[in-house]
Amino acid sequence: MEPLILGIESSCDETAAAVIRGRRLLSDEIISSATLQAQFGGVVPELASRAHTDAVDLVVQRALDRAGVKKEELSAVAVTYGAGLLGALLVGLSFAKGLAYGLNIPLIGVNHIRGHLAACYLEDDALAPPFLSLLASGGHTAILYCKNETEYEVLGGTRDDAVGEAFDKVARVLSLPYPGGPHVEKLAREGQPVIGLPVMLKGAGGYDFSYSGLKTAVINYVHTKEQKGEEWNRADLAASFQHAALDILARKAVEGAREKGVNVVTAGGGVVANGYLREKLALACEKAGLKLVLPAKHRCTDNAAMIACEGLIQYRAGNFSPLSLNACPSIPLR
Ligand code: KG4
Ligand code: ZN
Repeated sequence: MEPLILGIESSCDETAAAVIRGRRLLSDEIISSATLQAQFGGVVPELASRAHTDAVDLVVQRALDRAGVKKEELSAVAVTYGAGLLGALLVGLSFAKGLAYGLNIPLIGVNHIRGHLAACYLEDDALAPPFLSLLASGGHTAILYCKNETEYEVLGGTRDDAVGEAFDKVARVLSLPYPGGPHVEKLAREGQPVIGLPVMLKGAGGYDFSYSGLKTAVINYVHTKEQKGEEWNRADLAASFQHAALDILARKAVEGAREKGVNVVTAGGGVVANGYLREKLALACEKAGLKLVLPAKHRCTDNAAMIACEGLIQYRAGNFSPLSLNACPSIPLR
């Protein structure tokens, strides 16, 4: 019988729980405080912690009910222990510890970023390493070579801001609500990438990225136009930013796959929900004869299915966590 794993996620503003049997997803529940946080223009850590405390019990019960399983049947509890907001992480982690201790089953602390990358396994039963992965989230931007299910080699990453962070900052400049990414994408659909913006480390820098210069260029563009009292097109600026920010991700992912001699590319992280990036990746991979596996759009942003899936990988590898496991606001990939 395949292991039955409950995944719990509470690193930012989504309280989520999911159950998987082997790689088969049985339930995937989420309660979000994003609308509440949007009133403040970003995540207020204390509000996030309180919202998790209110939601965690309910969301776990919903996940078990929807999966049609009793908690006594679980093989293990997998939970995000980092990276994320300390108070928010502690809510999910403490709940998971209590459950694991009470049921006398293993606790598996999951690295949130690995969770984002593991989401691809839910899309394709046949997916197996080695492959090349693009990570594009609110906190990370990297090109990784996945050697086997538990080992990633970082080929390159951002030298400053993450791509999602740049989307959120540009959204503010364009007076768009939080979280900015989806709003920038929507606005960009109405414009054309006609404004010249710098693409950092295009030729140089190997697999590294830099987004702070691009972000500053967008801010400077708006300030200059406003100072001169000139008209400017918000949609064209959104489209131009998106083009500069995302084309390079698709290009470097394909270059990485070629260098490593793999024929599969995967991606994960909130920015992978972006339709323009998905299209660029699909085109670049098709041209290069590579297979592309992407998580469903709603599994690119934070969810518990990906945490359960990474939990399964760690379960099979026998990597269990002690009940003394602490929450870590910042952790490297491995
Ligand atoms: O992966 P994620 O949940 O964050 C981290 O774990 O770090 O993703 C959140 C990030 C935010 O920066 C958000 O603006 C961005 O992903 N995002 C998008 C889109 N949807 C979410 N960026 C661009 N286009 C989108 N459709
Ligand atoms: Zn995330």
